[in-house]
Amino acid sequence: MIPTPHIDCIDQNLIAKTVLMPGDPLRAKYIAETFLTKVVQVNTVRNMFGYTGYFGKKKVTVMGSGMGMPSIGIYSYELFAFYGVEKIIRIGSCGAYSPDLKLYDVILAKDAYSESSYAKTMGISSRKILAGSTVLNNRILKASEETGIPVHVSRIHSSDVFYRIKSDEYKEIHAKFGADAVEMESFALFANAKALKKKAACLLTVSDSLVTHEATSAKERQEAFTKMMELALHSL
Ligand code: HPA
Repeated sequence: MIPTPHIDCIDQNLIAKTVLMPGDPLRAKYIAETFLTKVVQVNTVRNMFGYTGYFGKKKVTVMGSGMGMPSIGIYSYELFAFYGVEKIIRIGSCGAYSPDLKLYDVILAKDAYSESSYAKTMGISSRKILAGSTVLNNRILKASEETGIPVHVSRIHSSDVFYRIKSDEYKEIHAKFGADAVEMESFALFANAKALKKKAACLLTVSDSLVTHEATSAKERQEAFTKMMELALHSL
């Protein structure tokens, strides 16, 4: 069933078995232009740019996911179910709930707590905590050792909303569920991987802190994310 409604690639061979997914399609473009060789563009629908190229000898696709669980839910489902993708590593940003996390720290999300009904609606689980792939996580940890880029292994919160009326609600979520940081996508990605018997992992860079209210600029983020991208690419 290709092309799919949201990915206009007509040749399945143009999509690699492994996909790196930043939230921002322009970051996908930046990664392809900066780190990959022999790059071809594989998606333009809705400007959700995707590119396939080579990192050394390894074929890899990098494509934006958009923001939020419904968005990553659509793209990761189409890649897994219709384009033969086996592994997706999300490379995103997060807000720190834990005072121990500093701006630009890199987090490997061992699992994600969410109030989202995504997994239940899909009919795969009524659990509110879903884990990433142990196989992928172990590879990322090995890449962390090899590259010397440190990672915090944490539970994260996949939130349904960015702007909360109760601005210190994060404290409860941190205390009650043990989530150290917040983003808005991983729970749906992990649910799709579980539903389709595929593998997913999530690396995050801390872009802001709910504890200290520090934040990074879009430009600083672009540069700081290099560390995380290198880690993800080396884990391949
Ligand atoms: N909230 C939700 N998602 C995020 C945040 C945040 O503070 N920072 C980066 N992604």
